[in-house]
Amino acid sequence: MAKTICITNQKGGVGKTTTTYALGLGLRKKGYKVLIVDLDPQGNLSFSVGAETEESITIYEVLKGEYNAEEAIQHTPIIDIVPSNIVLSGVDLEFTYTGREFLLREALSNVQNIYDYIIVDTPPSLNILTVNAFALSNKIIIPMIADIFSLQGIAQLYETIDRVKRYCNPSINIEGILLTRYNKRVILSSEIKGTAEMIAKELNTTVFNTHIRSSISIQEAQTKQENLYEYAPRNSAVMDYMQFVEELLSRGI
Ligand SMILES: Nc1ncnc2c1ncn2[C@@H]1O[C@H](COP(=O)(O)OP(=O)(O)OP(=O)(O)O)[C@@H](O)[C@H]1O
Ligand SMILES: [Mg+2]
Repeated sequence: MAKTICITNQKGGVGKTTTTYALGLGLRKKGYKVLIVDLDPQGNLSFSVGAETEESITIYEVLKGEYNAEEAIQHTPIIDIVPSNIVLSGVDLEFTYTGREFLLREALSNVQNIYDYIIVDTPPSLNILTVNAFALSNKIIIPMIADIFSLQGIAQLYETIDRVKRYCNPSINIEGILLTRYNKRVILSSEIKGTAEMIAKELNTTVFNTHIRSSISIQEAQTKQENLYEYAPRNSAVMDYMQFVEELLSRGI
């Protein structure tokens, strides 16, 4: 059975997609079989790994039950992905039936035995897509950038996860908060780190030891649709992501 990890935070631009991409590629570099799933209608993750999203089967058709997950998986040169596109944005209104929280879990049940890890990128909102990701996942990772607005909305996120734990998926667990785009020299960053630690305590979790530093190479690798560990292996932020992979593995994930 694959270990299922969901990268989430309803705040936009905190590094969810980047973390999904970097974690997926990092685990793959370690020799694991990894599937990443783009559950965001923006399709940023699909773009980052060079997936085709216009003509192909996407997660939308899979959730609708029109195709199975195997048919939607694209084997790009850098990773396996189930892509997404803007059509996915209608599902909150479209999927109104009972059991709609479990569509992703059901859809991926056939590929759970093929992979060691399934990692899901979520949209910047708390909607039925996010709940589907929670209903599937064993572990939640919350990326957060070092700015004060990142702290807002965390209570709401916790409440949603808590409800999912009660009604949909008792095995879900918040593994930790990952500080991204971190800049040690900015005083605010270290203040936020303190606040993040307080929040983590409230969420019954911890802030990961590894912080991801800010670096333009991250964005460049994604824009060029390349593997960041090959694009800039010695870059500080890329090394941080590899360190993060090690930290997760050392926790037995
Ligand atoms: N460590 C980093 N250093 C520099 N830039 C970064 C870093 N991490 C992410 N970025 C850039 O910041 C932007 C936002 O990151 P990303 O898309 O991963 O956030 P997100 O939470 O997925 O956003 P959204 O909520 O819109 O889905 C992207 O352009 C990305 O390339
Ligand atoms: Mg994103």
